[in-house]
Amino acid sequence: MSFDLKSLVAARMGENYELHAQHLNPTLVQVQRTIGFDRVYVRAKGAYLYDAEDNAYLDFLSGYSVFNVGRNHPVVAKAVHDALDLDLPNMVQMDCSLMSGLLAEALLKKMPPHLEAVFFCNSGTEAVEGALKFARAATGRPRIVSLKGSYHGLSYGALSITGSETFQEGFGPFLADTEMVPLGDLNALATTLAMRDVAAFIVEPVQGKGVNFPADDYFQQAQALCRQYGTMFICDEVQTGFGRTGKWFAFEHWGLEPDIVTMAKTLSGGYVPCGAIATRRAIYQKTFSRLDRCVVHSSTFGRNNLAMTCALATLSVLEDEQLVENSETVGNLLMARLRGLMKQHPFIKEVRGKGLMIAIEFHEPPQFKSKLAWRLMHKIDQSLFPQLVVVPLLSKHRILTQVAGHHMDVIKILPPLTIGRKEVDYFINALDQTLTECTTFPGPIMELARNTAQLRFGRGKKRPTAARKTGTPQVPAPTNGHRPLNGNAITLDGPVALNGKGNGRNGSAH
Ligand SMILES: Cc1ncc(COP(=O)(O)O)c(C=O)c1O
Repeated sequence: MSFDLKSLVAARMGENYELHAQHLNPTLVQVQRTIGFDRVYVRAKGAYLYDAEDNAYLDFLSGYSVFNVGRNHPVVAKAVHDALDLDLPNMVQMDCSLMSGLLAEALLKKMPPHLEAVFFCNSGTEAVEGALKFARAATGRPRIVSLKGSYHGLSYGALSITGSETFQEGFGPFLADTEMVPLGDLNALATTLAMRDVAAFIVEPVQGKGVNFPADDYFQQAQALCRQYGTMFICDEVQTGFGRTGKWFAFEHWGLEPDIVTMAKTLSGGYVPCGAIATRRAIYQKTFSRLDRCVVHSSTFGRNNLAMTCALATLSVLEDEQLVENSETVGNLLMARLRGLMKQHPFIKEVRGKGLMIAIEFHEPPQFKSKLAWRLMHKIDQSLFPQLVVVPLLSKHRILTQVAGHHMDVIKILPPLTIGRKEVDYFINALDQTLTECTTFPGPIMELARNTAQLRFGRGKKRPTAARKTGTPQVPAPTNGHRPLNGNAITLDGPVALNGKGNGRNGSAH
């Protein structure tokens, strides 16, 4: 029988977790089952995911910022169909393809004029690896300096400059000649750059892990130090690019002129992997410096037509639908509404972010009842509190969010840039309810914490599936004509252990 994707999907949908447990990563399956994230989503549109009963889930994670234009955007989908219909010659390699030329032209139009040359690859990590090589080739210097708390990817070069012990544990030794300095510490940066052997200083303008950024002119001064000591200044915009922070690129918030910019994620609208590096022509040519070095850095799939097509369509959607502007407007609204919750929820320490890249940080509140709840949860597990917010947001309110990183009391929200007031209202009400339940004795969240403690300390029942029963969460009716929610709702009333082993490490640094 010939291959038929639709019948295959129809026949096997629902076997997702069994297949993964057997053939892929059973540890991930275990974590997802434990926290009740083992949903089967059967389709997606815009800011919503749908299960088999057509229940809508509000996606405030966006595949770690891949879906700035929303999921399965019709313009990008049509471009994919068109590219297939055209039978374009793909990856001839010994030619120069039209699509990559067009995309490089379109991408550079969105960037400051000193960035004149583009290199295409397949992921954010690959873009970072390429940027490090470009910087070394351009300067002839060995050392790379990055920031503590950074995330740049998980291959050896990128992981070597990523400031996370959790991701590095067990994989050393790492690239020699790397160093990390604290965000905001210009003296530490100046001291290390003054050795004049540093090829590159790489930063995420807004750090993905924890959503941290300096308040003052740190980046401007850091860039000036790079110029003074002949170091390439790299902005890693893999997560922050394409409107996520309310500007096309986050470096614009500080008026920066990076020598090299790395991009990926949203670039190709969530269909086909695509990464890119933009840099000055002079830097680029130091890598491709002679005829025999014309492909000295390359990747087989790097300029493939489907990725290029998707990226061209995505840039056009971002522009046509004014999503960068929407990110700024709705981001400001969302942050204002979140700050409005601080008074009645003393657990909230700070709301920070730019555009629709937002962190909600929690801390021990002064009030007796809340303090007690806080201490209990931290006694059980240092990472438990934000998980106890993220879990009911999904199980009870059908909103997908994430913990912002390992060992931090922070949740991070990264909605598609297409959301509006309706989604903001829904999220604020859900968070309000969830935080209220954090101090309700007895209440579902304290029950969750109690069960986690029982499991941790050995008196527990075996967990678990997050129990599902009928209720009435009113997830807002999706925009763009998609079906509103009305099916079975879900409430959380079962014991949920966040991590049987007890380290709570199911956060993501993305
Ligand atoms: C700033 C930054 N750089 C690099 C990467 C790695 O990108 P990828 O996962 O596409 O390899 C990420 C991924 O989250 C990122 O946020």
